[in-house]
Amino acid sequence: MDKMLAVRVIAAWFMLFLCDMAGARQAQRPANKRWAEIRRLSAEDHRKMMDLLGIKSLRPGRNGMNPQAANYANYDEAKANPYPNLPDPLVLKNGKKVTTPEMWWTQRRPEIVEDFDREIYGRVPKDTPKVTWEVTSTSREKNGDVPVITTELVGHVDNSSYPAITVDIQVTLSTPADAMGPAPVIMEFGFGGWFGRARPGSGPSWQQQVLAKGWGYAVIVPYSIQADYGAGLNQGIIGLCNKGQSRKADDWGALRAWAWGASRALDYFETDKSVDANQIGLEGHSRFGKATLVAVAYDQRFAIAYVSSSGAGGASLFRRDWGEIVENVAGSGEYHWMAGNFLRYAGPLTWDDLPIDAHELVALCAPRPVFISSGSNNGDAWVDAKGMFLAAAGAGPVYRLLGKRDMGTTEFPPIETTLIDGDVAFRQHSGGHTTGPNWPTFLTFAQRYLHVKQAADKSAASSR
Ligand code: GCU
Repeated sequence: MDKMLAVRVIAAWFMLFLCDMAGARQAQRPANKRWAEIRRLSAEDHRKMMDLLGIKSLRPGRNGMNPQAANYANYDEAKANPYPNLPDPLVLKNGKKVTTPEMWWTQRRPEIVEDFDREIYGRVPKDTPKVTWEVTSTSREKNGDVPVITTELVGHVDNSSYPAITVDIQVTLSTPADAMGPAPVIMEFGFGGWFGRARPGSGPSWQQQVLAKGWGYAVIVPYSIQADYGAGLNQGIIGLCNKGQSRKADDWGALRAWAWGASRALDYFETDKSVDANQIGLEGHSRFGKATLVAVAYDQRFAIAYVSSSGAGGASLFRRDWGEIVENVAGSGEYHWMAGNFLRYAGPLTWDDLPIDAHELVALCAPRPVFISSGSNNGDAWVDAKGMFLAAAGAGPVYRLLGKRDMGTTEFPPIETTLIDGDVAFRQHSGGHTTGPNWPTFLTFAQRYLHVKQAADKSAASSR
């Protein structure tokens, strides 16, 4: 009898298992199909952009996975600097040296911005639609031991010019419930899902570390602003502004679109009494590390940046041959991050033809503090830690001109050396492709700049 029961239980379990597998396979099929379609449409849009630019072919990118591949990424420092001379951030296009902060602000900085706009990240349209923020829920909860007030926000983008496209920017904000005044806030470009979440037993999450300083935290969902593939360029905020049409060669790419969304969240923070909008930090990892640097470079209201493993198209120098290169970013899987014009540097032009490089993107953040982070070559070599360090070092002269401190060295330091005494900071942690190990270092750096203020009006924080 018992035996029969056991057989039946096993049979039932097996049937359930089979159903589950079939269900999973069925669920997978549309997803695979959808991705194949996205890849096809992205390649089509990429080809269209090449046609628009009159480019017949692009040089291929590097393979980061297979050491046997003929085009395997370079990890030999002796071959990493084919173009060692960087454009000088303090020399005007007419050859004149920039000698005063005024010359920087009124002449050189606008030149650099124009080059990044036209050649690299693309232009944000002159008139972007208005965003109306709605608080969709507010709840009191605890993160660890700390009571917080969590607000779910949706930024409705006015689509009256093209109702076929809807853009609703999603942000979650948590501020310390017992704050005596408006709190500094660190906002993250969220990957969503499980990526970047603290594993059980791995210590306090980044949010808890931020809370321990008395600050709040927020997460913005980049994909609610712009999809992360070329097939989505006629949708999202870029598609809305173009009324569903394809991009022009100097139109914005996803990095600037995500950055634009972060700026709109900052607009909201300016209206929220629980937040000190003058003390908003932005943090992002990998592709969102790139978006973080772009956002902070362009919007001077951001107070500080934590730029994690941003690599090519972020803080790493385009002129370096290490890990990912220009040609990868210009390929059909990543070109949507950039302006169409960027493709030319993987086609007829070379990296050395770029009028600017990543050190000048870091310099656009000056005099505000920026922390550039990388993992070790064992797991994070693709992002080129040294290339990012050199960009941070290359921004030094601009920080000094504006009365701030550079990193204190131009020599790439041993792993885990903490360079946070200046206003542009760097650390390569010994983990892989992750923000985790550098959070404490970033927060030590950030606490020199962000401060909890006791509000004169103590009711401010509780008025929400
Ligand atoms: C790829 C890509 C990188 C990017 C990364 C990510 O590795 O080549 O440029 O930073 O994805 O965002 O995870």
